[in-house]
Amino acid sequence: MDNLPTRRVLVCQHRTCTKDGAAEVLSTLEQQKIINVNVEACGCLGLCGSGPMVLVLPDNVYYWHIDSQKAQAIIDTHLLGNEAIASMMHPRLHPN
Ligand code: FES
Repeated sequence: MDNLPTRRVLVCQHRTCTKDGAAEVLSTLEQQKIINVNVEACGCLGLCGSGPMVLVLPDNVYYWHIDSQKAQAIIDTHLLGNEAIASMMHPRLHPN
């Protein structure tokens, strides 16, 4: 066993995000089998209209307008590569 902290990936499944395709995003993220990563459906993250929204904890990174291709990028680059993707972060919460 290693001592990596568990990462939680929250995928909003509330109204607006669902209308914008959040179910597909959740299903893409659920397909990864990375150790120490838990993917969870969650309620409204308070950023309706910016969705589908994905929050990665404990990194505290809010990704916006995620589709399944971007969800795959989160898996490859952030969850596996340990590098958050600045270009996909919500600009209001992650001003540069
Ligand atoms: S519906 Fe997803 S952030 Fe509000």
